[in-house]
Amino acid sequence: MLNEKTVFSAGFLLILFAGLCLAKPAEDEMNYKIDRLLSQMTLEEKVGQLHQIGGSFATGPDFKNDANREALVREGRIGSFLNIVDLGYMRELQRLAVEESRMKIPLMFALDVVHGYKTIFPVPLAQAASWNLDLIEKAERIAATEAAASGIHWTFAPMVDIARDPRWGRIMEGSGEDPFLGSRIAEARVRGFQGEDLSAENTILACAKHFAAYGAAEGGRDYNTVDVSELVLREVYLPPFQAAVNAGVASMMNSFNVVFRMPASANGLLMNQILKGEWDFQGFVISDWNSYGEMLAHGVALDKYDAACLAMNAGSDVDMQGDVYIEALARAIRDGHVPEARLDDAVRRFLRMKFKLGLFDDPYKYIHPGRMKKTLMKKAFQSTALKLAQASIVLLKNENRLLPIQKDIGTIAVIGQLADSRKFRDMLGGWSAMGDMNDVVTILQGVKNTVSGNTKILYAKGCEAFGECPDSLIQEAVIAAEESDVVLLVLGENGFMSGEATSRAYIGLPGRQIDLAKAVHATGKPVVLLMMTGRPLTISWCDEHLPAIVNIWQPGTMGGQAAADVIFGDVNPSGKLPVTFPLTIGQVPLYYNALNTGRPVGPDGNTHFRSAYIDCPNDPLYPFGFGRSYTAFEYSDLTLSSEKIKMADTLTVTVHVRNSGNRDGEEIVQLYIRDRVGSLSRPLKELKGFERVPLKAGESRQIEFHLTSGDLAFWTRSMTFEAEPGDFKVFVGGSSADVLESSFTLK
Ligand code: NOJ
Repeated sequence: MLNEKTVFSAGFLLILFAGLCLAKPAEDEMNYKIDRLLSQMTLEEKVGQLHQIGGSFATGPDFKNDANREALVREGRIGSFLNIVDLGYMRELQRLAVEESRMKIPLMFALDVVHGYKTIFPVPLAQAASWNLDLIEKAERIAATEAAASGIHWTFAPMVDIARDPRWGRIMEGSGEDPFLGSRIAEARVRGFQGEDLSAENTILACAKHFAAYGAAEGGRDYNTVDVSELVLREVYLPPFQAAVNAGVASMMNSFNVVFRMPASANGLLMNQILKGEWDFQGFVISDWNSYGEMLAHGVALDKYDAACLAMNAGSDVDMQGDVYIEALARAIRDGHVPEARLDDAVRRFLRMKFKLGLFDDPYKYIHPGRMKKTLMKKAFQSTALKLAQASIVLLKNENRLLPIQKDIGTIAVIGQLADSRKFRDMLGGWSAMGDMNDVVTILQGVKNTVSGNTKILYAKGCEAFGECPDSLIQEAVIAAEESDVVLLVLGENGFMSGEATSRAYIGLPGRQIDLAKAVHATGKPVVLLMMTGRPLTISWCDEHLPAIVNIWQPGTMGGQAAADVIFGDVNPSGKLPVTFPLTIGQVPLYYNALNTGRPVGPDGNTHFRSAYIDCPNDPLYPFGFGRSYTAFEYSDLTLSSEKIKMADTLTVTVHVRNSGNRDGEEIVQLYIRDRVGSLSRPLKELKGFERVPLKAGESRQIEFHLTSGDLAFWTRSMTFEAEPGDFKVFVGGSSADVLESSFTLK
């Protein structure tokens, strides 16, 4: 008998089938056209497609701004540009490509749209603190919409590097230290940028970077040597890249570092074997800024010719801002050192994306001044930026419920250069594309917008976040504090202290800000520290002495309002740290998913002959997954559907979470496992699930997670990815260090 459900399912299958039938000829037609193009192209024109140079500004060293771009385009010696944002110029270059070059292949324009194009969202590390995949995806769709309306086809994002070392400034660009959280966010970002249809007006190509293990730079020094085992590579650094590939990411970027002593750009294991082999990646690989050229400095290539052969043969496809391919690749192919089929494969991969963007149908479709004007900075975009900034704020300390502050407080002192900064990037962060500081709501502005009409606001700069700070400025801040009922002290890093090439050997509050904090604290007034930062900072003095600490990261265009919403209680903070905050730099690298070692510190706390320091505890200041709320959440009744499961089974984990305070709030419930005995030593905890749960005051909910043997799998001693039978622990809680515990056996 036919019922509604069967009719619906049959209809759905029919549509799916029709869709697949239509998609196939479209793919076939595209491939046919690409083959035809390839058959007509000269060697130089093929190499030209793989050549990318910079436009109006540099995002790397040794930028030669004297390239004759127009001539290169006419000769078909260039396939894409980065860093051009002038629509008129883009249009002219595109015209040259499609009207005056022999093959008439349209150009692609690329830009680092990392956390927004014009509407700037919090920096990626901050976004990760929201653990809110829907909002992150939405933010990327907005970034793509604004970028696509401004002539951009392709972003160099998401950056999916796992980072365990806060000295590394680029920790700000990723999702923190955890491969599971990093993978889910990588997928969300790729979906956000690319959507379902690359030719749509609100999607652009994404690029997962930096492939691979760039975050493992020794000493946290950018561009430095990486030395990881294949196991750690696969278990820690690769999962977010694989997640991006599974989500359909169009391109990948090489990293600057070596992996097994071979620069990533020439690393056959990474590209030919893993990326294009094991993962069947159908997109293309681009170098990082002249990373093929840097093979000479790495000492693996004698000259550009050598570097071109190494990169191409290892599976690298496009050369960004280098002259390696353009100078040497055609020769290397003629000499037989690189098979022409490999070149064709690279060009084919690249052209496929031009087709998918719809550039062969309408090369100017992204370049419309009218559309750009109508699209940028829409109200709805700003509202998402506000929501994401709110969700990414982490409340680190709140003694005696100092926060939230009453909106009708008598006098509030707002202190710190960062509190009212319109310096480029301070609020926006390191990769703020076309973000404009004039669009930003500063902290001071946010406070003004939020407090009652009777509240007096005293602003004092205190001192620069970094740089000169005369005593007189500190003194002015002290006077403001003395005259106030509460102090909002805004300290942290300025916008140029995190991001690329911003490694720090000391990760405390920069400049004289700690002196300022001490002087303000000495007034005896209650002090709320609002921290702006692109990385974890060591702030143990502040944690010991100041009653309230709120981390707002570099919060983007709407950041000042988001901060005020939290400070004055319109929003209950809910962010959780995606990265460990160490107590001191000497503990680094410090991450929650570490191994137990043979001599862990025992439950009695005895550290002698144990893996410990004699002058510092092992524990961090704030652990991974940590973040407070203005309400309290109680966990109880952790239950497993079974004590024993088989390989094919699914284990259901349930837990009760109750909002036991008197405010509505949102809790990020986290699930971790530990494999008790493996063929290789397993981490103490591994995140395997999380859920953001809104709970009204007094409300409880039962939260359910599901674990399969796939979730328990790891790279074993025989280098296979599988689950091993044995005992497992399960932990559920509101941070990696505060959990309920249970256990089960995998048969
Ligand atoms: C170098 C950076 O490492 C990379 O992330 C960026 O996309 C390129 N420069 C282009 O700006």
